[in-house]
Amino acid sequence: MDLDQIVRAVRGARRITVLTGAGVSAASGIPTFRGPDGLWKQFRAEQLATPEAFERDPRLVWEWYDWRRQKVAACQPNAAHRVLAAWSQRWPTCHIITQNVDDLHLRVGTRDLVRLHGSIWDVSCWNGCAAAPSRWRDERVPLDEVPPRCPHCGGLVRPAVVWFGESLDPADVEAAHAATASCDLFISAGTSAIVYPAAAFLHDAKRRGATTAEINLETTPASEIVDIAVQGKVEEVLEQVEAALGA
Ligand code: OAD
Repeated sequence: MDLDQIVRAVRGARRITVLTGAGVSAASGIPTFRGPDGLWKQFRAEQLATPEAFERDPRLVWEWYDWRRQKVAACQPNAAHRVLAAWSQRWPTCHIITQNVDDLHLRVGTRDLVRLHGSIWDVSCWNGCAAAPSRWRDERVPLDEVPPRCPHCGGLVRPAVVWFGESLDPADVEAAHAATASCDLFISAGTSAIVYPAAAFLHDAKRRGATTAEINLETTPASEIVDIAVQGKVEEVLEQVEAALGA
């Protein structure tokens, strides 16, 4: 594998941006979406992760999220999260953009984190009632009522994650664009690189002249366009990179 190349690239970079996906949390025991045991093999996204699904059956949607929240609560961050957190602390110009909603990057103190798809611990009032903040944190595990109710209007509460068919938070998109535009090394780690707009950031970075790299167990659409493709477990590869850097 191109480990030496990625070590050289990290060593020589002034501004690193890393896009992470479900593969980064796989070693923590959180299922990915599209692998053989992926969530989208067992469940249909359109029945669980769309506004229409919630409108149709909020209890079903919340049962699924409550189950996932319990799973996430029982998991610990792994070496991939720890190395990326260390980079973000060591190099103020290092930015991490994640598609993961599990907040494991946050639990190890990652700085400058953009959570493109939100957090599984955030909720918002489904009716958007005026008394409620736009979102708030609810860390009850398991929830004591499903579906949970808005403490302000008594209506339904929804998971404040980005569902299929919904727009990303413009502030997050802007922050991710800024991180992409300013980097000289862009690493796509543990993501199938097919969900947009996240997948577009790699292309943007390449167009702007950044060195691009991928770390993934398998080949993805990104593998063909990156300068450095490292096939392997991201938690092992990042640990090896960190060791080679002498950190
Ligand atoms: P996917 O499940 O699509 O892809 C996970 C990727 O991680 C795959 O390419 C695997 O080969 C790779 N992988 C698995 N374990 C790994 C490991 N230990 N080391 C390295 N690579 C590993 O997950 P995402 O790309 O994150 O969106 O999916 C993107 C979005 O699609 C998610 O945020 C979610 C989903 O539908 C929404 O829910 C809006």
